[in-house]
Amino acid sequence: FEIKRIIDQAYDKAQLNKEDITAILAEDLANLDYLLQKADEKRDEICGDEVHLRAIIEFSSYCKQNCYYCGLRKDNQQLKRYQLKSKEIIETAQMASELGYQTVVLQSGEDDYPAEEIAEIIKKIKKTTAMAVTLSLGERDFEAYKLWREAGADRYLLKHEIADKVLYQKYHPGMSFENRIESLKYLKVLGYQIGSGVIIGLPDQTPAILAEDLLLCQDLELDMIGSGPFIPHQQTPLRGSEKGTVEMTLKFTALSRLLLPLAHIPATTALGTIDAEGRQKALQAGANVVMPNVTDGRYREQYQIYPDKICVNEEAGDCRQCIGGIIASLGRYVSQNQGHSLRE
Ligand code: 5AD
Ligand code: SF4
Ligand code: FES
Repeated sequence: FEIKRIIDQAYDKAQLNKEDITAILAEDLANLDYLLQKADEKRDEICGDEVHLRAIIEFSSYCKQNCYYCGLRKDNQQLKRYQLKSKEIIETAQMASELGYQTVVLQSGEDDYPAEEIAEIIKKIKKTTAMAVTLSLGERDFEAYKLWREAGADRYLLKHEIADKVLYQKYHPGMSFENRIESLKYLKVLGYQIGSGVIIGLPDQTPAILAEDLLLCQDLELDMIGSGPFIPHQQTPLRGSEKGTVEMTLKFTALSRLLLPLAHIPATTALGTIDAEGRQKALQAGANVVMPNVTDGRYREQYQIYPDKICVNEEAGDCRQCIGGIIASLGRYVSQNQGHSLRE
């Protein structure tokens, strides 16, 4: 059977052509138990039962971009914005460390938070905790990437979102696909572990485009790859569009594991938002990472990238406990190390 041959080849060689990837992505998930099973098997081989937690601090909801899908877009004037001070960010990071986290992710919209101040925050976190530091701040100038790397940042997340240039341009007015890819390449040269990823289910995204996404991820030699379903937000131009599906997200997650076996792959919060069991399903389809929110409860509702985001009424300790429970319920365990790239 053709589908089984393709899955076996992905499992054995971590290599597929675009047509074969497209065929899998276009196949009904009901016929793809074998795909999820082989991805879970590969995850077990490479990562074992260890799950890495990455604590996210959403420290600023200001954004100068206008991505068509995102609730933080500049033109959404209904959103009340906030920006944490250095001191608050550092204290939140220290609290995350006390909760046992080994990685902190500093995340924001494309804010103009001063690069030097971010460098000082990184230094302070590295000095006072044992955590790895991941940055997820969008595109900044190349000097800033360098400054932050020198300050001790370990990793950078910058999702390319969609590999089709025409759709990229449409959904990201004023931004450039080329600059995004150049940024990722430069971050790698600087010695960052790099992560990218995609939104699953944007309007007009086809299985062939998602196949291009996976080939691009291979090309970039990513250390991390994340994918979450698109969830339409009322205060954006894509308010009337269909949301992405659990099925396509799981297919993409499974193929990510088979085609980039050494990558760290999160079970995303967006998947947990459209399906109460979404993160559990992803963890059984190739994922080995969860990224709980540690932002102070006061701000969570205001970081509204998409509606009905889970954990908005929780605090850091609640999410830590919840995730611990989910991981244990799957017979897995929380890692005790920083969970650096598996590529070296
Ligand atoms: N639905 C799902 N994910 C979204 N993102 C932004 N807007 C949405 C949405 N409406 C994701 C993007 C981006 C990150 C900030 O959140 O992938 O990288
Ligand atoms: Fe800003 Fe990122 Fe949202 Fe785009 S996806 S509007 S850059 S926060
Ligand atoms: Fe936040 Fe479950 S991870 S409540």
